[in-house]
Amino acid sequence: MSLATDFSHRMTRHHADLLVRGGTVHTPNGAERIDIACLDGRIVALGDLSPQWQAGETIDATGLDVLPGVVDSQVHFREPGMTHKETLDAGTRGAVLGGVTTVFEMPNTQPLTLSAADLQDKLDRADGRAWCDYAFYMGGSAVNADQLDSLENRPGCAGIKVFMGSSFGDLLADEDATLRRILSHGRRRVAIHAEDEARLRDRYERVRASGDVREHPVWRDAESALNATCRIVRLAEETGRRLHILHVSTGQEMAFLAQHKNRVSVEVTPHHLSLSAPDCYERLGSLAQMNPPVRDKTHQHALWEAVRTGVVDVIGSDHAPHTLEEKAKPYPTSPSGMTGVQTLLPIMLDHVNAGRLSLSRLVDLTSAGPARLFGMERKGRIAVGYDADLSIVDMEARRTISNDWIASVCGWTPYDGVRVRGWPMHTIIRGRTVVRDGGLCKATPCGEPVRFLEADTQTYRA
Ligand code: DOR
Repeated sequence: MSLATDFSHRMTRHHADLLVRGGTVHTPNGAERIDIACLDGRIVALGDLSPQWQAGETIDATGLDVLPGVVDSQVHFREPGMTHKETLDAGTRGAVLGGVTTVFEMPNTQPLTLSAADLQDKLDRADGRAWCDYAFYMGGSAVNADQLDSLENRPGCAGIKVFMGSSFGDLLADEDATLRRILSHGRRRVAIHAEDEARLRDRYERVRASGDVREHPVWRDAESALNATCRIVRLAEETGRRLHILHVSTGQEMAFLAQHKNRVSVEVTPHHLSLSAPDCYERLGSLAQMNPPVRDKTHQHALWEAVRTGVVDVIGSDHAPHTLEEKAKPYPTSPSGMTGVQTLLPIMLDHVNAGRLSLSRLVDLTSAGPARLFGMERKGRIAVGYDADLSIVDMEARRTISNDWIASVCGWTPYDGVRVRGWPMHTIIRGRTVVRDGGLCKATPCGEPVRFLEADTQTYRA
């Protein structure tokens, strides 16, 4: 090769839509000081990209950590039916302000998400109104059990969600025969809310009589959770199905689930890792009321141990907004649920700074983990060819979380007044900067449905 040819090659200019320069980038290789070039929504180059790359927009990420886009695989955005609590617009706005780039939304809306038409209605509502990418769970129940194998493969479907114990809304499948039918129809991982309905019913009278929210983890005790988890894992073994146990809240379940990693993945929530009884109920009253409940420190330590030892696969927020008026009703008529999508990352970054987990483990839990479990196409890692979804964070920024900052329609967080170290600064969705310096910087939402490897992608854009 002549020197002249070599010289002209080095002078070649590449053009990107967006360049992220100078950050500490968390790739599958580890943390690297590299630049990222994004074009047409994808990552097209990684490395020392100056000076040959130019772009319409550049983000200087010097001093910042660039994480793969955070996926929150459990949120309740209440649409349709309960837009006084939350909407797809406000819920996803909270997501991006909190550094979340993709959400999976839950089916206990009104109507419940049980049919192809219900799913399509949600997809239509999200179109042009969602600030981040999204998928919707299909509810699994006695009425649609036999159709679930085709329903779970609908475009935009995150999979099947089953409530074994009543929580909020009418979605319930607690009989073994129904659960067996649900598990026998389909192939994708089934997400489970595991609390034992019969035991919850038996024990309800005691909290109704006391009216004391501190009794919440006594009513919905560790055994209610463990019984349901053991039962559904046995049924999954019988039917050959894989499971995803949502919001695991007890040490006993973690010990049991560690023995079943061949077919079961595990989620924990920031609130179970951060709040504990009795303190949270004394401080926050029914704002801390959640299903399954926030429990005492013994359980919380076991959850952290399961994070450390790798039993936990993902962190999801279980963002479940209710208005302050609804929460002010006397316990136990007060609904269970709290916001979480916007605070997931700040709260977890603070735990990283406190030394409870590493930043690379957090990336595993919030990006690589969900992408692996749910078979998300082109998401979950910073790599050439992947979607340019980035959560750029300042690990040194100290901020106070406040209700004013919360985008949710219900307008409150259980962390109001909590000071954290570590904050989401810029949120990039498929190469578009949606949040810059902590503020929304786009006029219109650009969220799209997630594509899944296991689903029937042939019909995706039908
Ligand atoms: O506390 C909860 N509230 N747990 C759930 O699983 C459902 C949620 C809701 O939708 O409000």
